[in-house]
Amino acid sequence: MDAAVKKVRVPDFAAMKARGERITMLTAYDYTMAKILDKAGVDALLVGDSLGNVQLGYDNTLPVTLEDMIHHTQAVSRACKRALVVADMPFLSYGVDINAAVYNAGRLIKEGGADAVKIEGAGSLITQAIARMVEIGIPVVGHLGLTPQSIHRMGGYRVQAKTPEGVEKLLADAAQLQEAGIFALTLEGIPAQPAAQVTASLRIPTIGIGAGAACDGQVLVCYDALGMVDDLHPKFVKQFGQIGQAITEAVQAFCREVKDGTFPGPEHTYGEYVSPAKSDHS
Ligand code: KIV
Repeated sequence: MDAAVKKVRVPDFAAMKARGERITMLTAYDYTMAKILDKAGVDALLVGDSLGNVQLGYDNTLPVTLEDMIHHTQAVSRACKRALVVADMPFLSYGVDINAAVYNAGRLIKEGGADAVKIEGAGSLITQAIARMVEIGIPVVGHLGLTPQSIHRMGGYRVQAKTPEGVEKLLADAAQLQEAGIFALTLEGIPAQPAAQVTASLRIPTIGIGAGAACDGQVLVCYDALGMVDDLHPKFVKQFGQIGQAITEAVQAFCREVKDGTFPGPEHTYGEYVSPAKSDHS
């Protein structure tokens, strides 16, 4: 590893919360993008199971397999010198059986090269599995609020914790996950007030997506943040660049120059090429 680059480690998350420094996280799914994001200085890269939507073109995250996650996590972790790499546990890889959950989490660390895993939801099976993972050295990030793997139970991607009972459950689940040993908690798709309450109630940092400004950090899907998605604009997304437009313009320039023969020029060509027409007249 480059000696000048200091890798972000799991304990740094607690230290950042303690000193009031906000944590930055973006999703990444491939080597080239991960290398750019890592070099830009983001604290953590999440190999989200959102790769089902944005890389594989599924309607939701449910079809994503553990093998998909390992494959993409390997690519991202090869690129990362600084950022902490967190890999999502996909649907059915953790909710059925504790031993299977621990083993599958271990594969994301051992084969994928992740520094930590992320799990959606709470409840006794999940918290027991998390406790066992933490016991054998697997750091875990929790994920509450709008949990995309529960799309059918929620009846769509809906803002959660909108009732007093919902907020009470969110606070109880967050406390339970902290007790089980998670080192950070993703809060997705909840109003700002309950997100602030959860954040204030925990020792560990919260990382919000559509959960307001009181969270200890923020995460976005990289393509959303970079302005590469033109069909969906949820309220919580800010486009920090217009990379989709920049790609379109670059591709149009490539097509134009190939069609009109200006690319490749002599500076992109090995050796000299004399066209038959020219050599006939010489
Ligand atoms: O899969 C994902 O990208 C996520 C983020 C939305 C937090 O879980």
